[in-house]
Amino acid sequence: MRQHLIDPEICIRCNTCEESCPIDAISHDGRNYVVKFEVCNWCNDCLSPCPTGAIDNYRIVATNTPYTLEEQYSWNDLPAPTEPQTASPGVLPEEVARITEIAQAGQGGIASPPWSAAHPYVNLFTPQKPTLATVSGNFRLTAENATSDIRHIVLDFGGVAFPVLEGQSIGIIPPGTDSEGRPHTMRLYSMASPRNGERPGYNNLALTVKRVTEDHQGRPTSGICSNYVCDLAKGDKVEVCGPYGTNFLMPNHPGSSLLMICTGTGSAPMRAMTERRRRRMSLKEGGGLMLFFGARMAAELPYFGPLSKLPRELIDINFAFSRVPNQPKQYVQDKIRERHEDVVRLIRDENCYIYICGLKGMEAGVLEAFRDICRRHGSDWDELLPQLQRQSRFHVETY
Ligand code: A2P
Repeated sequence: MRQHLIDPEICIRCNTCEESCPIDAISHDGRNYVVKFEVCNWCNDCLSPCPTGAIDNYRIVATNTPYTLEEQYSWNDLPAPTEPQTASPGVLPEEVARITEIAQAGQGGIASPPWSAAHPYVNLFTPQKPTLATVSGNFRLTAENATSDIRHIVLDFGGVAFPVLEGQSIGIIPPGTDSEGRPHTMRLYSMASPRNGERPGYNNLALTVKRVTEDHQGRPTSGICSNYVCDLAKGDKVEVCGPYGTNFLMPNHPGSSLLMICTGTGSAPMRAMTERRRRRMSLKEGGGLMLFFGARMAAELPYFGPLSKLPRELIDINFAFSRVPNQPKQYVQDKIRERHEDVVRLIRDENCYIYICGLKGMEAGVLEAFRDICRRHGSDWDELLPQLQRQSRFHVETY
């Protein structure tokens, strides 16, 4: 089981956790704040008031041998984790657990975050206790004549602390009820902006949302949440949960590079990560970005204009267009094969982290391309993959 713990190294003993715990699971002595294992019910009321994040810690323990209060009172720092810290603290809403399971169901599996990733906050707002964000913008990203309507929605959190990292998602609850009168369930959307806001220093973030007009079989349907979000107007209030996601996070150490592969709205986390790196270019931290981005054509590709204008020394962009009249169909895996020398170099580079996000069907094709180009360069992808996973360098979220 997960045992909720407080990190004594960064705790500033401000007492906000003890004050906000509704069931008295937290107490303190002159030295440390501690959590009673048998009382804590993971309601997470203590998480958002904590100014340092000391409260947002846990360890996997056997149910009959949790860390005792005496042990917690004696600590200077938390014991080293015995398990990869991939699960998130608290009980995740059922929808989040289900969607995460689907997103990580491929060969990429569940990866732990890069060693230098920042600490993610999760589950600060739940479907029972969402926060309200205000829409501050809703812009169409695809060309007016494009068949797909993909939008850039900016949400402002006002005075509410909603700390996020690139690669995390937020949950949105559409208003109203389903045909059986039950409230609609939450949908998850990956953030498209970096951690310091869509506009730096503003408490806002953006989403990349495609209006769903057909189901997976191509039959006409109207996606409940995507249509709600795509129709939002400036000033509208939206119920938001989250943030969610503890794995698909970017490395922060200087010299780390990113190999990003996406289709359609799978570009949201790639845009967030790219924008984070762009804003820090003057720091000359080194480590490049390489992007493979698949879309039907330029007019259907979200952020085509802004991406095309990024400096070449920041990012090496490779678009793959599948439906340009009179041109052969190209998928991201075709472009990866074309750029085999650079891609193999990045796969072998211990400081390069790989991210794949987008259509589920793409994953197998990309892995096949990796397998082929590794073989061509005398490596075995099937031996490399477990190494990449052990090094937290391979991250996949497909839907
Ligand atoms: P296609 O033209 O064959 O549908 P969408 O616009 O539906 O979100 O898709 C984004 C891009 O991903 C399109 O270019 C689409 O091509 C492409 N795509 C579809 N299936 C795969 C796949 N199995 N592997 C890679 N790309 C794919």
